[in-house]
Amino acid sequence: MIIGFLDYWISGLQQSNNPSIQSRKLLLNLYRTRTRMKKLITAIIGAGTVSHLHAAALMNVEESDFIAVCSRSVERANALAQRYGVKAYTDIEEMIKANGVQAVMVCTPHPVHAEVALRAITTGAHVMVEKPLASSLTDCDAMIAAAKRANVKLAMISQRRLYAPVQRIKKAIDEGKIEPALGTVTLFGWRDRAYYESDPWRGKWKDEGGGVLVNHAPHQLDILQWLMGPIEEVFGYWANLNHPYIEVEDTALALIRFKSGALGNIVLSNAQNPALYGKIAVFGKNGAAVGAQTDGGAMFVPGISKIQEPPRNDLWTIPGEEHLLEQWQQEDAAFFERIDATTYYHQLQIQDFLRAICENREPMITGEEGRKTVELFTAIYLSQRDRTPIKFPLSLAA
Ligand SMILES: NC(=O)c1ccc[n+]([C@@H]2O[C@H](COP(=O)([O-])OP(=O)(O)OC[C@H]3O[C@@H](n4cnc5c(N)ncnc54)[C@H](O)[C@@H]3O)[C@@H](O)[C@H]2O)c1
Repeated sequence: MIIGFLDYWISGLQQSNNPSIQSRKLLLNLYRTRTRMKKLITAIIGAGTVSHLHAAALMNVEESDFIAVCSRSVERANALAQRYGVKAYTDIEEMIKANGVQAVMVCTPHPVHAEVALRAITTGAHVMVEKPLASSLTDCDAMIAAAKRANVKLAMISQRRLYAPVQRIKKAIDEGKIEPALGTVTLFGWRDRAYYESDPWRGKWKDEGGGVLVNHAPHQLDILQWLMGPIEEVFGYWANLNHPYIEVEDTALALIRFKSGALGNIVLSNAQNPALYGKIAVFGKNGAAVGAQTDGGAMFVPGISKIQEPPRNDLWTIPGEEHLLEQWQQEDAAFFERIDATTYYHQLQIQDFLRAICENREPMITGEEGRKTVELFTAIYLSQRDRTPIKFPLSLAA
Protein backbone atom coordinates (compact mmCIF):
# COMPACT_ATOMS: atom_id res chain seq x y z
CA MET A 1 0.00 0.00 0.00
CA ILE A 2 2.73 2.46 1.09
CA ILE A 3 4.90 1.35 -1.84
CA GLY A 4 1.98 1.77 -4.23
CA PHE A 5 1.36 5.31 -2.95
CA LEU A 6 5.08 6.16 -3.17
CA ASP A 7 5.29 4.73 -6.70
CA TYR A 8 2.35 6.95 -7.68
CA TRP A 9 3.94 9.98 -6.00
CA ILE A 10 7.37 9.30 -7.54
CA SER A 11 5.94 8.88 -11.04
CA GLY A 12 4.24 12.29 -10.58
CA LEU A 13 7.50 13.83 -9.37
CA GLN A 14 9.36 12.34 -12.30
CA GLN A 15 7.44 14.63 -14.63
CA SER A 16 9.02 17.66 -12.93
CA ASN A 17 12.49 19.29 -13.27
CA ASN A 18 12.14 21.45 -10.17
CA PRO A 19 15.43 20.94 -8.17
CA SER A 20 13.78 20.67 -4.78
CA ILE A 21 11.51 18.09 -6.24
CA GLN A 22 14.57 16.31 -7.72
CA SER A 23 16.15 15.98 -4.28
CA ARG A 24 12.87 14.76 -2.80
CA LYS A 25 12.74 12.25 -5.62
CA LEU A 26 16.22 10.99 -4.70
CA LEU A 27 15.22 10.54 -1.09
CA LEU A 28 12.08 8.72 -2.10
CA ASN A 29 13.97 6.40 -4.41
CA LEU A 30 16.36 5.65 -1.58
CA TYR A 31 13.43 4.93 0.72
CA ARG A 32 11.83 2.76 -1.92
CA THR A 33 15.04 0.76 -2.42
CA ARG A 34 15.35 0.28 1.34
CA THR A 35 11.74 -0.78 1.67
CA ARG A 36 12.02 -3.18 -1.25
CA MET A 37 15.04 -4.74 0.36
CA LYS A 38 12.99 -5.50 3.46
CA LYS A 39 13.31 -9.17 4.30
CA LEU A 40 10.34 -11.48 4.34
CA ILE A 41 10.26 -14.46 6.67
CA THR A 42 10.26 -17.48 4.37
CA ALA A 43 9.83 -21.24 4.65
CA ILE A 44 9.57 -24.37 2.52
CA ILE A 45 6.88 -27.06 2.62
CA GLY A 46 8.03 -30.42 1.24
CA ALA A 47 11.63 -31.54 1.75
CA GLY A 48 12.49 -33.66 -1.29
CA THR A 49 14.67 -33.17 -4.34
CA VAL A 50 13.41 -29.81 -5.60
CA SER A 51 13.34 -28.24 -2.14
CA HIS A 52 17.14 -27.87 -2.31
CA LEU A 53 16.81 -25.45 -5.24
CA HIS A 54 14.35 -23.39 -3.19
CA ALA A 55 16.50 -23.54 -0.05
CA ALA A 56 19.58 -22.37 -1.96
CA ALA A 57 17.57 -19.50 -3.46
CA LEU A 58 16.03 -18.49 -0.13
CA MET A 59 19.51 -18.44 1.44
CA ASN A 60 20.83 -16.23 -1.36
CA VAL A 61 18.19 -13.63 -2.17
CA GLU A 62 18.39 -10.49 -0.09
CA GLU A 63 14.60 -10.27 0.34
CA SER A 64 14.46 -13.61 2.19
CA ASP A 65 14.96 -14.50 5.83
CA PHE A 66 14.76 -18.29 5.43
CA ILE A 67 13.69 -19.67 8.75
CA ALA A 68 11.97 -23.07 8.57
CA VAL A 69 11.02 -26.16 6.62
CA CYS A 70 7.99 -28.41 7.00
CA SER A 71 7.49 -31.92 5.65
CA ARG A 72 5.14 -34.78 6.33
CA SER A 73 8.25 -36.86 6.94
CA VAL A 74 10.07 -35.75 10.09
CA GLU A 75 13.32 -37.32 8.86
CA ARG A 76 13.26 -35.35 5.60
CA ALA A 77 12.29 -32.13 7.40
CA ASN A 78 15.17 -32.58 9.86
CA ALA A 79 17.67 -33.40 7.12
CA LEU A 80 16.82 -30.30 5.05
CA ALA A 81 16.62 -28.08 8.14
CA GLN A 82 20.03 -29.20 9.40
CA ARG A 83 21.66 -28.67 6.04
CA TYR A 84 20.49 -25.05 5.83
CA GLY A 85 20.49 -24.23 9.55
CA VAL A 86 16.73 -23.64 9.85
CA LYS A 87 13.94 -25.08 12.05
CA ALA A 88 12.08 -28.29 11.16
CA TYR A 89 8.31 -28.82 11.44
CA THR A 90 5.73 -31.42 10.43
CA ASP A 91 2.73 -29.08 10.92
CA ILE A 92 2.22 -26.26 8.40
CA GLU A 93 0.04 -24.00 10.56
CA GLU A 94 2.34 -24.41 13.56
CA MET A 95 5.39 -23.47 11.48
CA ILE A 96 3.73 -20.36 10.02
CA LYS A 97 2.24 -19.11 13.29
CA ALA A 98 5.28 -19.83 15.49
CA ASN A 99 7.66 -17.94 13.18
CA GLY A 100 5.43 -15.32 11.58
CA VAL A 101 6.23 -16.87 8.18
CA GLN A 102 5.18 -14.49 5.38
CA ALA A 103 5.94 -16.54 2.27
CA VAL A 104 6.15 -20.29 1.66
CA MET A 105 7.43 -22.40 -1.22
CA VAL A 106 5.29 -25.50 -1.86
CA CYS A 107 7.57 -28.38 -2.95
CA THR A 108 5.30 -31.39 -2.40
CA PRO A 109 4.02 -33.81 -5.08
CA HIS A 110 1.36 -32.24 -7.35
CA PRO A 111 -1.81 -33.85 -6.02
CA VAL A 112 -1.10 -32.31 -2.60
CA HIS A 113 -0.15 -28.83 -3.86
CA ALA A 114 -3.70 -27.59 -3.23
CA GLU A 115 -4.15 -29.08 0.24
CA VAL A 116 -0.80 -27.68 1.37
CA ALA A 117 -1.21 -24.29 -0.34
CA LEU A 118 -4.71 -23.83 1.10
CA ARG A 119 -3.44 -24.46 4.62
CA ALA A 120 -0.66 -21.92 4.13
CA ILE A 121 -2.96 -19.34 2.52
CA THR A 122 -5.61 -19.58 5.24
CA THR A 123 -2.87 -19.14 7.85
CA GLY A 124 -1.94 -15.87 6.13
CA ALA A 125 1.15 -16.74 4.04
CA HIS A 126 1.87 -15.78 0.43
CA VAL A 127 2.42 -18.95 -1.59
CA MET A 128 4.68 -19.96 -4.45
CA VAL A 129 3.97 -23.46 -5.79
CA GLU A 130 6.24 -25.71 -7.83
CA LYS A 131 4.97 -26.63 -11.30
CA PRO A 132 2.36 -27.72 -12.18
CA LEU A 133 0.05 -25.49 -10.12
CA ALA A 134 -2.00 -28.62 -9.29
CA SER A 135 -3.08 -31.81 -10.99
CA SER A 136 -6.74 -30.79 -11.39
CA LEU A 137 -8.63 -27.65 -12.37
CA THR A 138 -10.79 -27.93 -9.25
CA ASP A 139 -7.65 -27.72 -7.13
CA CYS A 140 -6.36 -24.73 -9.16
CA ASP A 141 -9.64 -22.86 -8.71
CA ALA A 142 -9.70 -23.52 -4.97
CA MET A 143 -6.16 -22.16 -4.62
CA ILE A 144 -6.79 -19.08 -6.77
CA ALA A 145 -10.04 -18.25 -4.94
CA ALA A 146 -8.49 -18.76 -1.50
CA ALA A 147 -5.54 -16.49 -2.33
CA LYS A 148 -7.93 -13.76 -3.52
CA ARG A 149 -10.06 -14.07 -0.37
CA ALA A 150 -7.00 -13.92 1.89
CA ASN A 151 -5.43 -11.12 -0.20
CA VAL A 152 -2.15 -13.00 -0.58
CA LYS A 153 -0.05 -13.66 -3.69
CA LEU A 154 -0.16 -17.01 -5.43
CA ALA A 155 2.67 -17.76 -7.86
CA MET A 156 3.95 -20.81 -9.74
CA ILE A 157 7.49 -21.77 -10.72
CA SER A 158 8.11 -22.16 -14.45
CA GLN A 159 11.74 -21.16 -14.57
CA ARG A 160 12.42 -21.99 -18.23
CA ARG A 161 10.42 -18.87 -19.20
CA LEU A 162 13.40 -16.91 -17.89
CA TYR A 163 15.92 -18.51 -20.25
CA ALA A 164 17.37 -15.83 -22.53
CA PRO A 165 16.55 -17.78 -25.75
CA VAL A 166 12.90 -18.05 -24.67
CA GLN A 167 12.79 -14.39 -23.62
CA ARG A 168 14.10 -13.42 -27.10
CA ILE A 169 11.23 -15.29 -28.76
CA LYS A 170 8.67 -13.59 -26.50
CA LYS A 171 10.22 -10.18 -27.21
CA ALA A 172 10.18 -10.75 -30.98
CA ILE A 173 6.47 -11.64 -30.79
CA ASP A 174 5.65 -8.69 -28.51
CA GLU A 175 7.50 -6.33 -30.85
CA GLY A 176 5.52 -7.65 -33.83
CA LYS A 177 8.60 -9.01 -35.60
CA ILE A 178 6.84 -12.33 -35.94
CA GLU A 179 3.10 -12.98 -35.81
CA PRO A 180 2.64 -16.58 -34.61
CA ALA A 181 0.91 -18.87 -37.12
CA LEU A 182 2.22 -22.23 -35.88
CA GLY A 183 3.74 -23.21 -32.54
CA THR A 184 5.43 -26.54 -31.85
CA VAL A 185 6.74 -28.22 -28.73
CA THR A 186 8.86 -31.36 -28.92
CA LEU A 187 10.22 -33.14 -25.88
CA PHE A 188 12.14 -36.38 -26.39
CA GLY A 189 13.08 -37.32 -22.85
CA TRP A 190 13.82 -40.43 -20.85
CA ARG A 191 13.10 -41.61 -17.30
CA ASP A 192 14.33 -45.01 -16.14
CA ARG A 193 12.89 -47.50 -13.69
CA ALA A 194 15.13 -46.27 -10.85
CA TYR A 195 13.64 -42.78 -11.29
CA TYR A 196 10.07 -44.04 -11.05
CA GLU A 197 10.96 -46.15 -8.03
CA SER A 198 12.80 -43.32 -6.27
CA ASP A 199 9.61 -42.15 -4.52
CA PRO A 200 6.39 -44.07 -3.88
CA TRP A 201 4.21 -41.37 -5.53
CA ARG A 202 5.86 -41.49 -8.96
CA GLY A 203 4.09 -43.21 -11.85
CA LYS A 204 0.70 -43.51 -10.12
CA TRP A 205 -2.47 -41.71 -11.20
CA LYS A 206 -3.63 -40.98 -7.66
CA ASP A 207 -0.29 -39.82 -6.27
CA GLU A 208 1.34 -38.15 -9.31
CA GLY A 209 -1.80 -37.01 -11.12
CA GLY A 210 -0.38 -37.99 -14.54
CA GLY A 211 2.89 -38.70 -16.34
CA VAL A 212 4.89 -36.75 -18.89
CA LEU A 213 2.02 -34.25 -19.33
CA VAL A 214 1.67 -33.45 -15.65
CA ASN A 215 5.17 -33.87 -14.30
CA HIS A 216 7.77 -33.43 -17.02
CA ALA A 217 6.35 -31.19 -19.75
CA PRO A 218 4.53 -28.41 -17.83
CA HIS A 219 7.45 -26.06 -18.56
CA GLN A 220 7.05 -26.51 -22.31
CA LEU A 221 3.23 -26.37 -22.16
CA ASP A 222 3.47 -23.15 -20.17
CA ILE A 223 5.90 -21.55 -22.64
CA LEU A 224 3.82 -22.58 -25.66
CA GLN A 225 0.72 -20.83 -24.30
CA TRP A 226 2.70 -17.83 -23.12
CA LEU A 227 4.01 -17.37 -26.66
CA MET A 228 0.94 -18.41 -28.68
CA GLY A 229 -1.92 -17.03 -26.56
CA PRO A 230 -5.27 -18.51 -25.54
CA ILE A 231 -6.43 -21.88 -26.87
CA GLU A 232 -9.66 -22.51 -28.77
CA GLU A 233 -9.59 -26.30 -29.15
CA VAL A 234 -7.35 -29.34 -28.50
CA PHE A 235 -7.27 -32.88 -29.81
CA GLY A 236 -4.92 -35.29 -28.08
CA TYR A 237 -3.70 -38.82 -27.53
CA TRP A 238 -1.58 -40.32 -24.79
CA ALA A 239 -0.01 -43.75 -24.27
CA ASN A 240 2.43 -45.67 -22.15
CA LEU A 241 4.91 -46.99 -24.71
CA ASN A 242 8.00 -48.02 -22.78
CA HIS A 243 7.29 -48.19 -19.05
CA PRO A 244 5.07 -51.19 -18.25
CA TYR A 245 5.79 -50.83 -14.51
CA ILE A 246 4.05 -47.41 -14.20
CA GLU A 247 0.35 -46.53 -14.53
CA VAL A 248 0.66 -43.09 -16.13
CA GLU A 249 1.52 -42.01 -19.69
CA ASP A 250 5.09 -41.68 -20.93
CA THR A 251 4.00 -40.22 -24.29
CA ALA A 252 1.44 -37.61 -25.35
CA LEU A 253 0.56 -35.87 -28.61
CA ALA A 254 -1.83 -33.02 -29.27
CA LEU A 255 -3.02 -30.70 -32.01
CA ILE A 256 -4.12 -27.21 -31.00
CA ARG A 257 -6.14 -24.44 -32.59
CA PHE A 258 -5.45 -21.14 -30.84
CA LYS A 259 -8.06 -18.37 -30.51
CA SER A 260 -5.89 -16.24 -32.84
CA GLY A 261 -6.43 -18.83 -35.59
CA ALA A 262 -2.86 -20.10 -35.26
CA LEU A 263 -2.20 -23.85 -35.02
CA GLY A 264 0.04 -25.84 -32.70
CA ASN A 265 1.35 -29.30 -32.06
CA ILE A 266 2.81 -31.06 -29.08
CA VAL A 267 4.93 -34.22 -29.07
CA LEU A 268 6.02 -35.25 -25.60
CA SER A 269 7.88 -38.39 -24.70
CA ASN A 270 9.63 -39.79 -21.67
CA ALA A 271 10.29 -42.95 -23.60
CA GLN A 272 13.35 -42.10 -25.72
CA ASN A 273 16.56 -43.64 -24.40
CA PRO A 274 18.86 -41.76 -24.38
CA ALA A 275 16.97 -38.50 -23.99
CA LEU A 276 17.51 -36.16 -26.93
CA TYR A 277 16.12 -32.65 -26.42
CA GLY A 278 13.24 -30.34 -25.59
CA LYS A 279 12.49 -27.69 -28.22
CA ILE A 280 9.96 -24.99 -28.88
CA ALA A 281 9.47 -23.18 -32.21
CA VAL A 282 7.18 -20.45 -33.50
CA PHE A 283 6.58 -20.04 -37.22
CA GLY A 284 5.24 -16.68 -38.31
CA LYS A 285 2.73 -15.39 -40.84
CA ASN A 286 5.57 -13.65 -42.68
CA GLY A 287 7.33 -17.00 -43.13
CA ALA A 288 9.98 -16.28 -40.50
CA ALA A 289 10.67 -18.82 -37.75
CA VAL A 290 12.18 -18.60 -34.27
CA GLY A 291 13.01 -21.42 -31.90
CA ALA A 292 14.83 -22.49 -28.78
CA GLN A 293 16.22 -25.71 -27.44
CA THR A 294 15.26 -25.48 -23.77
CA ASP A 295 16.78 -28.84 -22.87
CA GLY A 296 19.72 -30.59 -24.50
CA GLY A 297 20.04 -34.26 -23.59
CA ALA A 298 18.20 -35.37 -20.46
CA MET A 299 16.10 -32.95 -18.44
CA PHE A 300 17.77 -32.51 -15.07
CA VAL A 301 16.51 -34.29 -11.96
CA PRO A 302 17.19 -32.02 -8.96
CA GLY A 303 19.69 -33.55 -6.56
CA ILE A 304 20.60 -36.24 -9.08
CA SER A 305 21.66 -34.57 -12.32
CA LYS A 306 22.51 -31.08 -13.54
CA ILE A 307 21.41 -29.17 -16.62
CA GLN A 308 23.69 -30.58 -19.30
CA GLU A 309 23.67 -28.03 -22.11
CA PRO A 310 23.02 -24.31 -22.30
CA PRO A 311 19.53 -23.37 -23.47
CA ARG A 312 20.02 -21.86 -26.92
CA ASN A 313 18.17 -20.41 -29.88
CA ASP A 314 18.39 -23.00 -32.64
CA LEU A 315 16.29 -21.20 -35.27
CA TRP A 316 16.04 -17.49 -36.13
CA THR A 317 15.07 -16.41 -39.63
CA ILE A 318 13.50 -13.01 -38.92
CA PRO A 319 14.68 -10.97 -41.96
CA GLY A 320 17.81 -9.00 -41.12
CA GLU A 321 18.38 -10.85 -37.83
CA GLU A 322 19.62 -14.22 -39.09
CA HIS A 323 23.22 -13.34 -38.21
CA LEU A 324 22.31 -12.93 -34.52
CA LEU A 325 21.83 -16.67 -34.02
CA GLU A 326 25.53 -17.53 -33.85
CA GLN A 327 26.33 -14.54 -31.66
CA TRP A 328 23.53 -15.45 -29.19
CA GLN A 329 24.63 -19.08 -29.10
CA GLN A 330 28.15 -17.99 -28.12
CA GLU A 331 26.85 -15.52 -25.51
CA ASP A 332 24.50 -18.10 -24.00
CA ALA A 333 27.20 -20.78 -23.88
CA ALA A 334 29.56 -18.35 -22.11
CA PHE A 335 26.82 -17.31 -19.66
CA PHE A 336 26.05 -20.98 -18.94
CA GLU A 337 29.67 -21.44 -17.83
CA ARG A 338 29.40 -18.53 -15.39
CA ILE A 339 26.23 -19.64 -13.58
CA ASP A 340 24.83 -22.78 -11.98
CA ALA A 341 21.92 -23.10 -14.41
CA THR A 342 20.18 -25.65 -12.18
CA THR A 343 19.63 -23.10 -9.40
CA TYR A 344 20.01 -19.72 -11.15
CA TYR A 345 16.56 -19.49 -12.78
CA HIS A 346 14.74 -20.70 -9.67
CA GLN A 347 16.50 -17.97 -7.75
CA LEU A 348 15.49 -15.30 -10.27
CA GLN A 349 11.85 -16.32 -10.11
CA ILE A 350 11.78 -16.68 -6.32
CA GLN A 351 13.32 -13.22 -5.99
CA ASP A 352 10.64 -11.82 -8.31
CA PHE A 353 7.94 -13.45 -6.12
CA LEU A 354 9.33 -11.92 -2.91
CA ARG A 355 9.70 -8.53 -4.58
CA ALA A 356 6.12 -8.79 -5.85
CA ILE A 357 4.97 -9.17 -2.24
CA CYS A 358 7.05 -6.19 -1.08
CA GLU A 359 5.89 -4.05 -4.01
CA ASN A 360 2.29 -5.30 -3.88
CA ARG A 361 2.26 -6.23 -7.56
CA GLU A 362 1.55 -9.47 -9.39
CA PRO A 363 4.40 -12.00 -9.52
CA MET A 364 5.85 -12.94 -12.92
CA ILE A 365 3.79 -16.15 -13.14
CA THR A 366 0.51 -16.03 -11.24
CA GLY A 367 -1.85 -18.82 -10.17
CA GLU A 368 -4.11 -17.93 -13.14
CA GLU A 369 -1.16 -18.39 -15.53
CA GLY A 370 -0.31 -21.73 -13.91
CA ARG A 371 -3.92 -22.88 -14.33
CA LYS A 372 -3.58 -22.67 -18.14
CA THR A 373 -1.15 -25.60 -18.24
CA VAL A 374 -3.49 -27.68 -16.09
CA GLU A 375 -6.35 -26.84 -18.46
CA LEU A 376 -4.23 -27.95 -21.43
CA PHE A 377 -3.18 -31.33 -20.04
CA THR A 378 -6.70 -31.95 -18.70
CA ALA A 379 -8.04 -31.32 -22.22
CA ILE A 380 -5.60 -33.87 -23.70
CA TYR A 381 -6.75 -36.53 -21.21
CA LEU A 382 -10.41 -35.68 -21.93
CA SER A 383 -9.85 -35.76 -25.68
CA GLN A 384 -8.41 -39.27 -25.53
CA ARG A 385 -11.19 -40.41 -23.19
CA ASP A 386 -13.99 -39.01 -25.36
CA ARG A 387 -12.23 -39.42 -28.75
CA THR A 388 -13.14 -35.86 -29.66
CA PRO A 389 -11.60 -32.37 -29.86
CA ILE A 390 -12.08 -30.43 -26.60
CA LYS A 391 -13.26 -26.80 -26.68
CA PHE A 392 -11.84 -24.22 -24.28
CA PRO A 393 -12.63 -23.09 -21.64
CA LEU A 394 -13.14 -26.55 -20.15
CA SER A 395 -16.28 -27.25 -18.23
CA LEU A 396 -15.38 -28.34 -14.71
CA ALA A 397 -18.15 -30.95 -14.82
CA ALA A 398 -16.44 -32.75 -17.77
N1 LIG B 1 10.75 -26.67 -11.51
C1 LIG B 1 11.42 -27.79 -11.72
O1 LIG B 1 12.31 -27.85 -12.57
C2 LIG B 1 11.07 -29.00 -10.90
C3 LIG B 1 11.97 -30.09 -10.85
C4 LIG B 1 11.61 -31.19 -10.07
C5 LIG B 1 10.41 -31.22 -9.38
N2 LIG B 1 9.56 -30.16 -9.46
C6 LIG B 1 8.26 -30.17 -8.76
O2 LIG B 1 8.49 -30.12 -7.36
C7 LIG B 1 7.46 -30.84 -6.66
C8 LIG B 1 8.11 -31.84 -5.71
O3 LIG B 1 8.93 -32.75 -6.45
P1 LIG B 1 10.14 -33.51 -5.78
O4 LIG B 1 10.84 -34.23 -6.86
O5 LIG B 1 10.93 -32.59 -4.92
O6 LIG B 1 9.36 -34.56 -4.84
P2 LIG B 1 9.94 -35.41 -3.61
O7 LIG B 1 9.13 -36.64 -3.46
O8 LIG B 1 11.42 -35.54 -3.73
O9 LIG B 1 9.64 -34.47 -2.35
C9 LIG B 1 8.33 -34.21 -1.90
C10 LIG B 1 8.36 -33.84 -0.43
O10 LIG B 1 7.04 -33.45 -0.03
C11 LIG B 1 6.76 -34.04 1.25
N3 LIG B 1 5.30 -34.14 1.39
C12 LIG B 1 4.44 -34.93 0.72
N4 LIG B 1 3.16 -34.68 1.12
C13 LIG B 1 3.22 -33.68 2.03
C14 LIG B 1 2.26 -32.98 2.81
N5 LIG B 1 0.97 -33.25 2.71
N6 LIG B 1 2.71 -32.02 3.66
C15 LIG B 1 4.02 -31.72 3.76
N7 LIG B 1 5.00 -32.37 3.06
C16 LIG B 1 4.59 -33.33 2.21
C17 LIG B 1 7.46 -35.39 1.18
O11 LIG B 1 7.67 -35.92 2.50
C18 LIG B 1 8.77 -34.98 0.51
O12 LIG B 1 9.66 -34.46 1.46
C19 LIG B 1 6.59 -31.48 -7.74
O13 LIG B 1 5.46 -30.70 -7.92
C20 LIG B 1 7.46 -31.44 -8.99
O14 LIG B 1 6.72 -31.32 -10.19
C21 LIG B 1 9.89 -29.06 -10.20
